[in-house]
Amino acid sequence: MAANVSTERRVSLHGEWSSRFAFILAVTGSAVGLGNVWKFPYIAGENGGGAFVLFYLFCVFLIGLPIMVAEISIGRRGRRNPVATMALLGSEEGGSEQWRYIGLLGVLAGVLILSFYSVVAGWAAAYIFKAGSNVFAGADAAAVDAQFDALTGSPLVNAMWHTLFMGMTVIVVANGVERGLEKAVRILMPALLALLLVLLGYSMVAGNFAAALEFMFAPRLGELTADAALIALGHACFTLSVGMGAVMAYGAYLPDEHSIGKTSCAIVFADTIIALLAGLVIFPIVFANGLDPAIGPGLIFQTLPLAFGQLPGGAVVGTAFFVLLTFAAWTSAISLMEPGVAWLIESFQLSRRVAAWSLGLAIWLLGFLSAFSTNVLSNLKFWRGTFFDNLDHLTTNIMLPLGGMAIVFFAGWIMSRNSTSDEIDPDAGPSYRAWRFLARYVAPIAVLLVFLDVIGLLDAWGLA
Ligand code: TRP
Repeated sequence: MAANVSTERRVSLHGEWSSRFAFILAVTGSAVGLGNVWKFPYIAGENGGGAFVLFYLFCVFLIGLPIMVAEISIGRRGRRNPVATMALLGSEEGGSEQWRYIGLLGVLAGVLILSFYSVVAGWAAAYIFKAGSNVFAGADAAAVDAQFDALTGSPLVNAMWHTLFMGMTVIVVANGVERGLEKAVRILMPALLALLLVLLGYSMVAGNFAAALEFMFAPRLGELTADAALIALGHACFTLSVGMGAVMAYGAYLPDEHSIGKTSCAIVFADTIIALLAGLVIFPIVFANGLDPAIGPGLIFQTLPLAFGQLPGGAVVGTAFFVLLTFAAWTSAISLMEPGVAWLIESFQLSRRVAAWSLGLAIWLLGFLSAFSTNVLSNLKFWRGTFFDNLDHLTTNIMLPLGGMAIVFFAGWIMSRNSTSDEIDPDAGPSYRAWRFLARYVAPIAVLLVFLDVIGLLDAWGLA
Protein backbone atom coordinates (compact mmCIF):
# COMPACT_ATOMS: atom_id res chain seq x y z
CA MET A 1 0.00 0.00 0.00
CA ALA A 2 2.79 2.38 0.93
CA ALA A 3 4.53 1.86 -2.41
CA ASN A 4 2.22 4.01 -4.50
CA VAL A 5 1.67 6.73 -1.89
CA SER A 6 2.78 9.96 -3.47
CA THR A 7 5.21 12.19 -1.66
CA GLU A 8 4.99 14.97 -4.19
CA ARG A 9 2.85 17.93 -3.10
CA ARG A 10 -0.18 18.92 -5.14
CA VAL A 11 -1.51 22.41 -5.82
CA SER A 12 -5.14 23.56 -5.52
CA LEU A 13 -6.93 24.76 -8.65
CA HIS A 14 -8.85 27.39 -6.69
CA GLY A 15 -6.02 29.34 -5.04
CA GLU A 16 -4.83 29.30 -1.42
CA TRP A 17 -5.66 31.13 1.80
CA SER A 18 -3.46 34.16 2.30
CA SER A 19 -2.41 33.02 5.78
CA ARG A 20 -3.08 30.49 8.53
CA PHE A 21 -5.24 33.13 10.16
CA ALA A 22 -7.39 33.44 7.03
CA PHE A 23 -7.99 29.69 7.12
CA ILE A 24 -8.89 29.75 10.82
CA LEU A 25 -11.34 32.56 10.14
CA ALA A 26 -12.92 30.74 7.22
CA VAL A 27 -13.42 27.48 9.11
CA THR A 28 -14.63 29.35 12.20
CA GLY A 29 -17.02 31.26 9.96
CA SER A 30 -18.27 27.96 8.62
CA ALA A 31 -18.64 26.37 12.04
CA VAL A 32 -20.22 29.26 13.93
CA GLY A 33 -23.67 29.92 12.58
CA LEU A 34 -27.32 29.13 13.11
CA GLY A 35 -26.25 25.79 14.54
CA ASN A 36 -24.84 27.47 17.62
CA VAL A 37 -27.34 30.23 18.25
CA TRP A 38 -30.60 28.93 16.77
CA LYS A 39 -30.34 25.16 16.76
CA PHE A 40 -28.39 24.21 19.86
CA PRO A 41 -30.77 25.96 22.30
CA TYR A 42 -33.93 24.61 20.70
CA ILE A 43 -32.80 20.98 20.43
CA ALA A 44 -31.35 21.13 23.95
CA GLY A 45 -34.78 22.41 25.00
CA GLU A 46 -36.65 19.68 23.14
CA ASN A 47 -34.41 16.94 24.49
CA GLY A 48 -34.51 17.95 28.13
CA GLY A 49 -31.10 19.65 28.53
CA GLY A 50 -28.71 18.00 31.02
CA ALA A 51 -27.82 14.58 29.67
CA PHE A 52 -28.33 15.77 26.11
CA VAL A 53 -25.88 18.67 26.54
CA LEU A 54 -23.31 16.41 28.17
CA PHE A 55 -23.52 13.81 25.41
CA TYR A 56 -23.32 16.59 22.82
CA LEU A 57 -20.04 17.76 24.41
CA PHE A 58 -18.74 14.18 24.34
CA CYS A 59 -19.60 13.96 20.62
CA VAL A 60 -18.01 17.32 19.82
CA PHE A 61 -14.63 16.53 21.36
CA LEU A 62 -14.28 12.78 20.86
CA ILE A 63 -16.06 12.37 17.50
CA GLY A 64 -16.40 15.76 15.78
CA LEU A 65 -12.88 17.00 16.49
CA PRO A 66 -11.11 13.91 15.11
CA ILE A 67 -13.39 14.02 12.05
CA MET A 68 -12.45 17.67 11.51
CA VAL A 69 -8.72 16.87 11.68
CA ALA A 70 -9.26 13.97 9.27
CA GLU A 71 -11.26 16.08 6.84
CA ILE A 72 -8.80 18.97 6.71
CA SER A 73 -5.88 16.55 6.30
CA ILE A 74 -7.58 14.68 3.48
CA GLY A 75 -8.53 17.97 1.82
CA ARG A 76 -5.02 19.36 1.93
CA ARG A 77 -3.46 16.13 0.72
CA GLY A 78 -5.84 15.83 -2.25
CA ARG A 79 -6.07 19.55 -3.05
CA ARG A 80 -9.20 19.00 -5.13
CA ASN A 81 -12.94 19.15 -4.55
CA PRO A 82 -14.16 16.51 -2.05
CA VAL A 83 -15.39 14.09 -4.74
CA ALA A 84 -12.13 14.14 -6.71
CA THR A 85 -10.04 14.14 -3.54
CA MET A 86 -11.74 11.03 -2.16
CA ALA A 87 -11.35 9.28 -5.53
CA LEU A 88 -7.71 10.30 -5.80
CA LEU A 89 -6.66 9.39 -2.26
CA GLY A 90 -8.86 6.31 -2.41
CA SER A 91 -6.95 4.88 -5.31
CA GLU A 92 -3.60 6.14 -4.02
CA GLU A 93 -4.00 4.69 -0.53
CA GLY A 94 -6.38 1.80 -0.75
CA GLY A 95 -6.78 0.86 -4.36
CA SER A 96 -10.39 2.01 -4.80
CA GLU A 97 -11.78 5.08 -6.47
CA GLN A 98 -15.20 4.19 -5.11
CA TRP A 99 -14.47 6.43 -2.11
CA ARG A 100 -15.66 9.19 -4.45
CA TYR A 101 -19.24 8.33 -3.43
CA ILE A 102 -18.50 9.57 0.09
CA GLY A 103 -17.56 12.90 -1.50
CA LEU A 104 -20.67 12.85 -3.66
CA LEU A 105 -22.88 12.10 -0.67
CA GLY A 106 -21.31 15.12 1.01
CA VAL A 107 -22.03 17.40 -1.93
CA LEU A 108 -25.65 16.24 -1.82
CA ALA A 109 -25.85 16.77 1.96
CA GLY A 110 -24.53 20.32 1.56
CA VAL A 111 -27.17 21.12 -1.05
CA LEU A 112 -30.00 19.68 1.02
CA ILE A 113 -28.84 21.39 4.22
CA LEU A 114 -28.46 24.77 2.57
CA SER A 115 -32.02 24.57 1.22
CA PHE A 116 -33.50 24.75 4.74
CA TYR A 117 -30.62 26.65 6.33
CA SER A 118 -31.34 29.53 3.99
CA VAL A 119 -34.96 29.71 5.13
CA VAL A 120 -33.95 30.02 8.79
CA ALA A 121 -31.23 32.53 7.90
CA GLY A 122 -34.04 34.45 6.19
CA TRP A 123 -35.87 34.60 9.54
CA ALA A 124 -32.75 36.08 11.16
CA ALA A 125 -32.54 38.66 8.36
CA ALA A 126 -36.23 39.55 8.71
CA TYR A 127 -35.74 40.05 12.45
CA ILE A 128 -33.11 42.74 11.81
CA PHE A 129 -35.96 44.93 10.64
CA LYS A 130 -38.45 43.84 13.28
CA ALA A 131 -35.95 44.62 16.04
CA GLY A 132 -34.93 47.84 14.33
CA SER A 133 -38.48 49.15 14.04
CA ASN A 134 -38.91 48.61 17.78
CA VAL A 135 -41.97 46.34 17.51
CA PHE A 136 -40.72 44.42 20.53
CA ALA A 137 -40.71 47.37 22.96
CA GLY A 138 -42.60 46.17 26.03
CA ALA A 139 -44.05 43.21 24.11
CA ASP A 140 -45.23 40.15 26.05
CA ALA A 141 -44.80 36.52 25.02
CA ALA A 142 -48.06 36.48 23.04
CA ALA A 143 -47.12 39.60 21.04
CA VAL A 144 -43.68 38.15 20.30
CA ASP A 145 -45.28 34.88 19.16
CA ALA A 146 -47.59 36.77 16.85
CA GLN A 147 -44.59 38.40 15.15
CA PHE A 148 -42.98 35.03 14.52
CA ASP A 149 -46.21 33.53 13.20
CA ALA A 150 -46.77 36.48 10.87
CA LEU A 151 -43.36 35.88 9.29
CA THR A 152 -43.29 32.11 9.05
CA GLY A 153 -47.01 31.83 8.36
CA SER A 154 -46.81 33.79 5.15
CA PRO A 155 -45.52 31.75 2.19
CA LEU A 156 -44.69 34.91 0.27
CA VAL A 157 -42.79 36.71 3.02
CA ASN A 158 -40.95 33.55 4.06
CA ALA A 159 -39.96 32.76 0.48
CA MET A 160 -38.84 36.33 -0.11
CA TRP A 161 -36.33 36.31 2.77
CA HIS A 162 -35.08 32.90 1.67
CA THR A 163 -34.58 34.28 -1.84
CA LEU A 164 -32.64 37.26 -0.53
CA PHE A 165 -30.35 35.11 1.60
CA MET A 166 -29.66 32.63 -1.22
CA GLY A 167 -28.81 35.54 -3.49
CA MET A 168 -26.29 36.89 -0.96
CA THR A 169 -24.71 33.47 -0.65
CA VAL A 170 -24.39 32.82 -4.37
CA ILE A 171 -22.78 36.21 -4.97
CA VAL A 172 -19.91 35.42 -2.61
CA VAL A 173 -19.39 31.88 -3.87
CA ALA A 174 -19.49 33.08 -7.50
CA ASN A 175 -16.65 35.50 -6.75
CA GLY A 176 -14.40 32.99 -4.99
CA VAL A 177 -14.72 32.37 -1.29
CA GLU A 178 -11.38 33.68 -0.12
CA ARG A 179 -12.06 37.31 -0.98
CA GLY A 180 -15.03 38.48 1.06
CA LEU A 181 -14.90 35.94 3.80
CA GLU A 182 -11.73 36.93 5.54
CA LYS A 183 -12.75 40.50 6.30
CA ALA A 184 -16.27 39.58 7.31
CA VAL A 185 -15.26 36.92 9.82
CA ARG A 186 -12.38 38.89 11.33
CA ILE A 187 -14.72 41.62 12.55
CA LEU A 188 -18.04 39.88 12.91
CA MET A 189 -17.11 36.86 15.02
CA PRO A 190 -15.60 38.91 17.87
CA ALA A 191 -18.59 41.26 17.63
CA LEU A 192 -21.04 38.35 17.91
CA LEU A 193 -19.17 37.06 20.95
CA ALA A 194 -19.22 40.52 22.57
CA LEU A 195 -22.94 40.90 22.00
CA LEU A 196 -23.68 37.47 23.43
CA LEU A 197 -21.76 38.52 26.55
CA VAL A 198 -23.91 41.66 26.84
CA LEU A 199 -27.03 39.51 26.56
CA LEU A 200 -25.58 37.06 29.07
CA GLY A 201 -25.35 40.00 31.50
CA TYR A 202 -29.03 40.72 30.89
CA SER A 203 -30.04 37.08 31.39
CA MET A 204 -28.04 36.76 34.60
CA VAL A 205 -29.73 39.83 36.05
CA ALA A 206 -33.25 39.68 34.64
CA GLY A 207 -33.64 35.98 33.83
CA ASN A 208 -33.85 32.86 35.93
CA PHE A 209 -30.18 31.97 35.65
CA ALA A 210 -30.19 29.28 38.32
CA ALA A 211 -32.97 27.36 36.58
CA ALA A 212 -31.11 27.64 33.29
CA LEU A 213 -27.87 26.27 34.77
CA GLU A 214 -29.73 23.38 36.34
CA PHE A 215 -31.59 22.64 33.09
CA MET A 216 -28.47 22.72 30.93
CA PHE A 217 -25.91 21.02 33.13
CA ALA A 218 -27.54 18.73 35.72
CA PRO A 219 -26.42 15.36 34.32
CA ARG A 220 -29.60 13.18 34.75
CA LEU A 221 -27.73 10.61 32.65
CA GLY A 222 -30.43 7.97 32.76
CA GLU A 223 -32.71 10.25 30.76
CA LEU A 224 -30.80 10.14 27.49
CA THR A 225 -32.96 8.35 24.92
CA ALA A 226 -31.56 6.75 21.77
CA ASP A 227 -33.26 9.41 19.68
CA ALA A 228 -31.73 12.23 21.76
CA ALA A 229 -28.29 10.62 21.47
CA LEU A 230 -28.64 10.56 17.69
CA ILE A 231 -29.71 14.21 17.63
CA ALA A 232 -26.74 15.18 19.84
CA LEU A 233 -24.36 13.29 17.55
CA GLY A 234 -25.87 14.81 14.42
CA HIS A 235 -25.68 18.26 15.90
CA ALA A 236 -22.03 17.81 16.89
CA CYS A 237 -21.29 17.21 13.18
CA PHE A 238 -23.61 20.01 12.06
CA THR A 239 -22.20 22.65 14.38
CA LEU A 240 -18.59 21.81 13.45
CA SER A 241 -19.46 21.63 9.72
CA VAL A 242 -18.03 18.13 9.44
CA GLY A 243 -19.26 15.00 7.69
CA MET A 244 -19.95 16.40 4.23
CA GLY A 245 -16.65 17.77 2.94
CA ALA A 246 -17.05 21.47 3.74
CA VAL A 247 -13.86 21.71 5.77
CA MET A 248 -12.28 19.24 3.33
CA ALA A 249 -12.88 21.77 0.55
CA TYR A 250 -11.42 24.54 2.70
CA GLY A 251 -8.45 22.32 3.66
CA ALA A 252 -7.62 22.01 -0.02
CA TYR A 253 -6.71 25.71 -0.01
CA LEU A 254 -4.54 25.50 3.15
CA PRO A 255 -0.80 26.04 2.66
CA ASP A 256 1.39 23.08 3.58
CA GLU A 257 3.24 24.38 6.59
CA HIS A 258 0.30 25.02 8.95
CA SER A 259 -0.68 22.83 11.91
CA ILE A 260 -4.03 21.17 11.38
CA GLY A 261 -4.37 19.83 14.93
CA LYS A 262 -3.90 23.09 16.81
CA THR A 263 -6.12 24.96 14.37
CA SER A 264 -8.93 22.42 14.73
CA CYS A 265 -8.76 22.46 18.53
CA ALA A 266 -9.04 26.26 18.59
CA ILE A 267 -12.02 26.23 16.23
CA VAL A 268 -13.88 23.47 18.07
CA PHE A 269 -13.31 25.25 21.36
CA ALA A 270 -14.61 28.59 20.03
CA ASP A 271 -17.64 26.93 18.45
CA THR A 272 -18.58 25.19 21.70
CA ILE A 273 -18.23 28.37 23.76
CA ILE A 274 -20.59 30.23 21.42
CA ALA A 275 -23.22 27.49 21.60
CA LEU A 276 -23.09 27.24 25.39
CA LEU A 277 -23.27 31.02 25.67
CA ALA A 278 -26.34 31.08 23.44
CA GLY A 279 -27.97 28.53 25.73
CA LEU A 280 -27.06 30.55 28.82
CA VAL A 281 -28.64 33.62 27.23
CA ILE A 282 -31.86 31.93 26.08
CA PHE A 283 -32.84 29.59 28.92
CA PRO A 284 -32.86 32.18 31.74
CA ILE A 285 -35.37 34.16 29.63
CA VAL A 286 -37.40 31.01 28.95
CA PHE A 287 -37.71 30.13 32.63
CA ALA A 288 -38.22 33.69 33.89
CA ASN A 289 -41.18 34.06 31.53
CA GLY A 290 -42.68 30.67 32.19
CA LEU A 291 -42.14 29.60 28.56
CA ASP A 292 -41.78 26.03 27.35
CA PRO A 293 -38.12 25.15 26.52
CA ALA A 294 -39.41 22.53 24.07
CA ILE A 295 -41.36 24.81 21.70
CA GLY A 296 -39.02 23.96 18.82
CA PRO A 297 -37.35 25.85 15.97
CA GLY A 298 -38.96 29.18 16.91
CA LEU A 299 -37.30 29.23 20.35
CA ILE A 300 -34.78 32.05 19.90
CA PHE A 301 -37.23 34.11 17.88
CA GLN A 302 -39.84 33.77 20.60
CA THR A 303 -37.54 34.44 23.59
CA LEU A 304 -34.81 36.92 22.67
CA PRO A 305 -37.26 39.64 21.56
CA LEU A 306 -38.63 39.64 25.11
CA ALA A 307 -35.16 40.65 26.29
CA PHE A 308 -34.81 43.26 23.55
CA GLY A 309 -38.19 44.67 24.53
CA GLN A 310 -37.14 45.21 28.13
CA LEU A 311 -33.49 46.16 27.77
CA PRO A 312 -32.64 49.88 27.67
CA GLY A 313 -31.41 50.45 24.11
CA GLY A 314 -32.99 47.09 23.25
CA ALA A 315 -33.84 48.10 19.69
CA VAL A 316 -30.17 48.77 18.94
CA VAL A 317 -28.93 45.63 20.70
CA GLY A 318 -31.61 43.56 18.97
CA THR A 319 -30.84 44.93 15.53
CA ALA A 320 -27.11 44.38 16.00
CA PHE A 321 -27.74 40.86 17.24
CA PHE A 322 -29.74 39.80 14.20
CA VAL A 323 -27.29 41.50 11.83
CA LEU A 324 -24.48 39.45 13.35
CA LEU A 325 -26.54 36.26 13.32
CA THR A 326 -27.34 36.79 9.65
CA PHE A 327 -23.65 37.27 8.89
CA ALA A 328 -22.72 34.19 10.89
CA ALA A 329 -25.29 32.22 8.88
CA TRP A 330 -23.91 33.69 5.67
CA THR A 331 -20.32 32.55 6.27
CA SER A 332 -21.70 29.09 7.06
CA ALA A 333 -23.91 28.96 3.99
CA ILE A 334 -20.94 29.76 1.78
CA SER A 335 -19.14 26.68 3.08
CA LEU A 336 -22.20 24.51 2.45
CA MET A 337 -22.09 25.48 -1.23
CA GLU A 338 -18.35 25.46 -1.87
CA PRO A 339 -17.87 21.66 -2.20
CA GLY A 340 -20.66 21.41 -4.80
CA VAL A 341 -19.42 24.41 -6.73
CA ALA A 342 -15.76 23.25 -6.72
CA TRP A 343 -16.97 19.83 -7.91
CA LEU A 344 -19.06 21.31 -10.76
CA ILE A 345 -16.14 23.49 -11.86
CA GLU A 346 -13.62 20.64 -11.92
CA SER A 347 -15.90 17.96 -13.36
CA PHE A 348 -17.74 19.87 -16.05
CA GLN A 349 -15.25 22.63 -16.86
CA LEU A 350 -17.76 25.31 -15.88
CA SER A 351 -16.74 28.80 -14.87
CA ARG A 352 -17.12 29.56 -11.14
CA ARG A 353 -19.89 32.01 -11.97
CA VAL A 354 -21.98 29.53 -13.97
CA ALA A 355 -21.41 26.76 -11.43
CA ALA A 356 -22.42 28.94 -8.48
CA TRP A 357 -25.54 30.38 -10.12
CA SER A 358 -26.80 27.02 -11.41
CA LEU A 359 -26.31 25.22 -8.12
CA GLY A 360 -27.78 28.23 -6.31
CA LEU A 361 -30.87 28.07 -8.51
CA ALA A 362 -31.42 24.41 -7.65
CA ILE A 363 -30.98 25.03 -3.91
CA TRP A 364 -33.25 28.05 -4.05
CA LEU A 365 -36.05 26.02 -5.66
CA LEU A 366 -35.61 23.14 -3.24
CA GLY A 367 -35.76 25.67 -0.40
CA PHE A 368 -39.41 26.41 -1.16
CA LEU A 369 -40.33 23.05 0.34
CA SER A 370 -38.92 24.32 3.63
CA ALA A 371 -40.20 27.87 3.22
CA PHE A 372 -43.72 26.46 2.77
CA SER A 373 -43.41 23.95 5.63
CA THR A 374 -44.54 26.57 8.16
CA ASN A 375 -47.56 27.67 6.15
CA VAL A 376 -49.23 26.11 3.07
CA LEU A 377 -47.54 22.73 3.58
CA SER A 378 -47.70 22.72 7.38
CA ASN A 379 -50.30 19.95 7.46
CA LEU A 380 -48.35 17.67 5.17
CA LYS A 381 -46.65 15.55 7.79
CA PHE A 382 -44.87 12.20 7.49
CA TRP A 383 -42.02 10.39 9.30
CA ARG A 384 -40.48 13.14 11.49
CA GLY A 385 -42.98 15.90 10.64
CA THR A 386 -42.97 18.47 7.85
CA PHE A 387 -40.63 18.58 4.85
CA PHE A 388 -38.44 20.92 6.82
CA ASP A 389 -38.24 18.50 9.77
CA ASN A 390 -37.50 15.56 7.50
CA LEU A 391 -34.78 17.30 5.52
CA ASP A 392 -33.15 18.38 8.75
CA HIS A 393 -33.31 14.91 10.29
CA LEU A 394 -32.16 13.07 7.18
CA THR A 395 -29.17 15.33 6.54
CA THR A 396 -28.05 16.38 10.02
CA ASN A 397 -28.72 13.24 11.99
CA ILE A 398 -28.16 10.55 9.37
CA MET A 399 -26.04 11.77 6.45
CA LEU A 400 -23.52 13.79 8.47
CA PRO A 401 -22.72 11.15 11.12
CA LEU A 402 -22.47 8.40 8.49
CA GLY A 403 -20.38 10.61 6.19
CA GLY A 404 -18.19 11.61 9.13
CA MET A 405 -17.75 8.01 10.15
CA ALA A 406 -16.69 7.06 6.62
CA ILE A 407 -14.22 9.95 6.47
CA VAL A 408 -12.63 9.24 9.84
CA PHE A 409 -12.50 5.53 9.01
CA PHE A 410 -10.78 6.36 5.75
CA ALA A 411 -8.18 8.53 7.50
CA GLY A 412 -7.64 6.02 10.32
CA TRP A 413 -7.69 2.71 8.48
CA ILE A 414 -7.28 3.22 4.72
CA MET A 415 -4.68 5.97 4.63
CA SER A 416 -1.20 4.89 5.64
CA ARG A 417 0.24 6.10 8.92
CA ASN A 418 2.90 7.93 6.93
CA SER A 419 0.35 9.88 4.92
CA THR A 420 -1.68 11.09 7.87
CA SER A 421 1.31 11.89 10.06
CA ASP A 422 2.81 13.72 7.11
CA GLU A 423 -0.20 16.06 7.19
CA ILE A 424 -0.86 16.21 10.93
CA ASP A 425 2.54 15.85 12.60
CA PRO A 426 5.62 14.45 10.83
CA ASP A 427 7.14 13.52 14.21
CA ALA A 428 4.03 11.48 15.09
CA GLY A 429 4.04 12.88 18.65
CA PRO A 430 1.52 12.20 21.44
CA SER A 431 -1.23 14.39 20.01
CA TYR A 432 -0.93 12.63 16.64
CA ARG A 433 -1.17 9.28 18.38
CA ALA A 434 -4.19 10.49 20.38
CA TRP A 435 -5.87 11.59 17.14
CA ARG A 436 -5.15 8.27 15.48
CA PHE A 437 -6.63 6.36 18.38
CA LEU A 438 -9.78 8.48 18.29
CA ALA A 439 -9.99 8.20 14.51
CA ARG A 440 -9.48 4.45 14.36
CA TYR A 441 -11.48 3.31 17.39
CA VAL A 442 -13.43 5.83 19.42
CA ALA A 443 -15.16 7.87 16.71
CA PRO A 444 -16.28 5.09 14.33
CA ILE A 445 -17.36 2.78 17.17
CA ALA A 446 -19.27 5.55 18.97
CA VAL A 447 -21.17 6.46 15.80
CA LEU A 448 -21.93 2.80 15.19
CA LEU A 449 -23.22 2.34 18.74
CA VAL A 450 -25.54 5.34 18.45
CA PHE A 451 -27.05 3.92 15.25
CA LEU A 452 -27.38 0.45 16.74
CA ASP A 453 -29.12 2.05 19.72
CA VAL A 454 -31.55 3.89 17.44
CA ILE A 455 -32.57 0.77 15.56
CA GLY A 456 -33.06 -0.94 18.91
CA LEU A 457 -30.28 -3.50 18.66
CA LEU A 458 -28.53 -2.47 21.88
CA ASP A 459 -31.74 -3.10 23.77
CA ALA A 460 -32.24 -6.37 21.98
CA TRP A 461 -28.73 -7.48 22.96
CA GLY A 462 -29.32 -6.34 26.53
CA LEU A 463 -26.62 -3.66 26.34
CA ALA A 464 -28.65 -0.53 26.97
N1 TRP B 1 -21.82 24.73 11.14
C1 TRP B 1 -22.81 25.61 10.65
C2 TRP B 1 -23.69 26.06 11.80
O1 TRP B 1 -23.47 25.64 12.91
C3 TRP B 1 -23.62 25.02 9.51
C4 TRP B 1 -22.76 24.44 8.46
C5 TRP B 1 -21.92 25.08 7.64
C6 TRP B 1 -22.62 23.07 8.17
N2 TRP B 1 -21.26 24.20 6.84
C7 TRP B 1 -21.66 22.98 7.14
C8 TRP B 1 -23.22 21.94 8.67
C9 TRP B 1 -21.31 21.74 6.65
C10 TRP B 1 -22.85 20.71 8.17
C11 TRP B 1 -21.90 20.59 7.18
O2 TRP B 1 -24.59 26.80 11.63
